[in-house]
Amino acid sequence: MTAKTLIFGHRGYPAKFPENSLEGFKYASNHHIDGLEFDVHLTKDSIPVVIHDETIDRTTDGKGEIRNYTFAQLRQFHLENSETIPSLKELLETVADSSIQLNLELKTDQITYENIEKIVLNMVQQCQLTHPVIFSSFNLDTLKNCQKIDSAQQYCWLTMHKVPEAEEFVKKVGLAGLHLHHYQPDEIVQRIWTINDSFKIRKLLKQGVAGIITDNFEKAVKIREKMTA
Ligand code: G3P
Ligand code: MG
Repeated sequence: MTAKTLIFGHRGYPAKFPENSLEGFKYASNHHIDGLEFDVHLTKDSIPVVIHDETIDRTTDGKGEIRNYTFAQLRQFHLENSETIPSLKELLETVADSSIQLNLELKTDQITYENIEKIVLNMVQQCQLTHPVIFSSFNLDTLKNCQKIDSAQQYCWLTMHKVPEAEEFVKKVGLAGLHLHHYQPDEIVQRIWTINDSFKIRKLLKQGVAGIITDNFEKAVKIREKMTA
């Protein structure tokens, strides 16, 4: 019933560490998490960095849009734990030896970063990870661009809305599945975000979804353990 549902840390482990911080990712990889979800933008000099918003205002001591800073300039700002904003390369190196399933979200729903697909896919290929990465995005065109570059990867569309005829849609676009805000009773690979409530976690585990993306992976793992004991 529940064994196939993987628990993914949403932006690392934000219930305990700053979101999208290496500290959170390191902790998660040392504590046997199934998977990690994180967000990627490009700097002015096209370096992929791990951060959720288009600006650094909410999560660092700086201000402004990521696309207006070079990577070197961006490094002068700090997260709440004094870390700098991680590059994608640093994150991949941090978890490279673990068996964690990575879910890399390309943040292109508000800004279209030139060549982000090629840059990010190249970097992931170079890292030779043990598990294939799941790429997701709210922007379907981004996923289609990725497919043209590397059709062997897994691409999942993120959406807030119900997808009618989901099975046909997934097949037609060539997706590996959907990342949804709400469970859909279709025979599709679906991972649901952001689920922090115990009742909802239990319900999704019973429904046997492919993945639950949560801010508190240790809580979700405990619930799964109790249900399978
Ligand atoms: O990938 C699931 C979730 O992260 C999508 O929403 O805004 O938290 O990136 P957001
Ligand atoms: Mg995300």
